[in-house]
Amino acid sequence: MIKIEDKFIHIATNNTSYVFCITPYGDLQHLHYGGRVADNHLDVLKELRSVLLVNTLYPDGDESYGIDGTCFEYSFANRGNSSAVGTIMSDKNGGVFDFVFSNAKIGEVPPTLAASSHGYDNTLVVIMKDKCRNVMLELWYLVYENVDVITRFARVINCEKEDISIHKLMSAQLDIFGDDFELTTFDGAWGRERIAKTHTINSGSFLAGSHSGMSGAECNPFFMIKDKSAGCNCDDVFAFNLVYSGSHQFSAERNPYGVVSVMNGIQSDGFLYKLQQGQNFVTPESVMTFSCFGTNGVSQNMHAFVQKHITRYVGQLPVMLNSWEAMYFDITEQKVMAVIDGASELGFEAVVVDDGWFKNRHNDTLALGDWVEDKNKFPNGIVSVANYCKSKDMIFGIWIEPEMISVDSDLYRANPTWALMTPKAKAIVGRNQYILDLTKTIVQDYIVEAVGRLVEDYGIGYLKWDFNRRLSDICCDDGSQSYHYRYTLSLYQIMERITKKYPKLIIEGCASGGGRFDLGMLCYCPFVWVSDNTDPLSRAEIQEGTSYGYPMNVMLNHISASPNHQTERSSKIKSRLDIAHCGAFGAQLDPNKLCKEDKQALSDAIKVYKNDRVWLENCKSYRLSNGQVDNHCIWQIMSKDGDYVKLVIFKKRFYTVDATLKIKLKGLDDDALYEIFGEGLTRQAYGLTLKNGGFVLPQNYQGVKYEESTGRIGDSGTAVYYIKKKG
Ligand code: DGJ
Repeated sequence: MIKIEDKFIHIATNNTSYVFCITPYGDLQHLHYGGRVADNHLDVLKELRSVLLVNTLYPDGDESYGIDGTCFEYSFANRGNSSAVGTIMSDKNGGVFDFVFSNAKIGEVPPTLAASSHGYDNTLVVIMKDKCRNVMLELWYLVYENVDVITRFARVINCEKEDISIHKLMSAQLDIFGDDFELTTFDGAWGRERIAKTHTINSGSFLAGSHSGMSGAECNPFFMIKDKSAGCNCDDVFAFNLVYSGSHQFSAERNPYGVVSVMNGIQSDGFLYKLQQGQNFVTPESVMTFSCFGTNGVSQNMHAFVQKHITRYVGQLPVMLNSWEAMYFDITEQKVMAVIDGASELGFEAVVVDDGWFKNRHNDTLALGDWVEDKNKFPNGIVSVANYCKSKDMIFGIWIEPEMISVDSDLYRANPTWALMTPKAKAIVGRNQYILDLTKTIVQDYIVEAVGRLVEDYGIGYLKWDFNRRLSDICCDDGSQSYHYRYTLSLYQIMERITKKYPKLIIEGCASGGGRFDLGMLCYCPFVWVSDNTDPLSRAEIQEGTSYGYPMNVMLNHISASPNHQTERSSKIKSRLDIAHCGAFGAQLDPNKLCKEDKQALSDAIKVYKNDRVWLENCKSYRLSNGQVDNHCIWQIMSKDGDYVKLVIFKKRFYTVDATLKIKLKGLDDDALYEIFGEGLTRQAYGLTLKNGGFVLPQNYQGVKYEESTGRIGDSGTAVYYIKKKG
């Protein structure tokens, strides 16, 4: 619902309200974001200040309206603000822009970027006009009522004759009063992506983001703000994300008057965009949600939003076997055929040949860009392998890194200017490779054609789209410093063309593991590779961190061999399977090298997963512990109708005699009788008992006896129980 009345604007979702008003000075004063409020008498949300805020500035000498003590919908430079502002723009003389309200419209069609959400309930655009120039700033709001999400973005339209410069334009700004907020970021590095870290926001500013041209493993665009007292299931939490895969930033700054200004958008450090007459500039979409049910509440909103309004692929995703850790670059037709046989026997639905399949790609210094088969490795051609795979009723897929080029490649020899390299200087390499200049139309066409050939000539049904280095050596800018933005938009144009032309093609997103795990990529990829680290202990933490912002069905998980190739830690196949099951499930190992028992375990697990995935796609999940701090990661995964619950417990460290673990389940029907089964146990209990009394986890291991054959928590690290509503 969107309502504009008496200068008050009220946007409501099922459980939240977002309110701002137009002040007598033409500013937009933010009044409330949180639980639902009534439609009328919204003026009560306005502070009636009668105390002069010394040092701050006032429009028209109005002492009740100190700039620093007021929450704004969007703040502008040149007003004497003490805090950072949401936009900085200038004209050719360096004159700074300042906008005032002009108009507001409900139900207009939004001019979003290619990667954007879909299926909104309604839209609002607030049009602001610069005080001195014919330049408009539009603030857009897209409302998703059922999932309690509002997305926002800004657009600038230059109707002046002269160019204007955009130095900073955040997608959204949210000013809220708060004393003791905590901000949680999800950052890390290769192999340890999206680990939750909490920072206190009580004075000064916190600024994070990426500068590398990609959303990055170092700082995911998803973040949360909450009151210190808010927990997993109660009290107020705000969460934010950005539909964008390029360099991004977010910040939270608390000024001395208690206003906390939260912003997110494209990275403004070094940013400059020149806008000519008649042109417009659109920011990526910021996503925000609020819940009074703690961090699980905002996660559930974000999950439903991603499932319903971000991913676009329609169809079931296959249980997939990937060749990377089984073969690395040492690929042969014979080996791939054998893997196809093994995969088919175990029940896999797709086989994906990773890096190393194409002409001359014997190691990572060679051949990126030459997306044709290596005849020495595939003497009968990729088509024959693809056909063989399809004859076993499995999809055939291959790896590609289409945004890259190796100097030792036919592509580079023919088109050296397509690579990003600083002229007359030694360009920086990353994994021995360079980036293609995606902003060139000819390069975009080449990538679309190359992918088209793989689909049409080789019969590929699955593409793993990798991206293994950051952007550098930008030397082809047009006087603007906006290459990262334009690169990202070009990437979306390419993906848009490919997904429109081949809607059935499954594209897995990947970037040196989970380096581009973001809502932009998820518009085109139904799932994204979470991390190269598949060790269950590391993986449980990575998946738990990822689960704050993203639902399980978009997390691509594999089981791999033990000892793990990244951590060298050994683990039981059960732990690896149980953890990998919490997402889109697959494997990267040679099925033919597994022992008889492990083969059986994997084949059984595939059957279980095929059953579960029907409800996993729209599941609701709860984190029942803080796996970052506690000894356990405990995840309750529940079907949409609440009839099925899967409880996954991962124990990090073993103690010979451990404390009793009592798990209180969430969201169950009080009066319904549930059957609990798993790990050799069967019990019954009412929902009310499981919620308030809890499920006491059986302790099966006390350091006195060890049974290899059992799948209990004591000997494997994981325990999985199903809780099913009876009748
Ligand atoms: C990085 C990816 O994360 C891996 O899964 C694998 O595809 C390699 N690249 C291949 O070079």
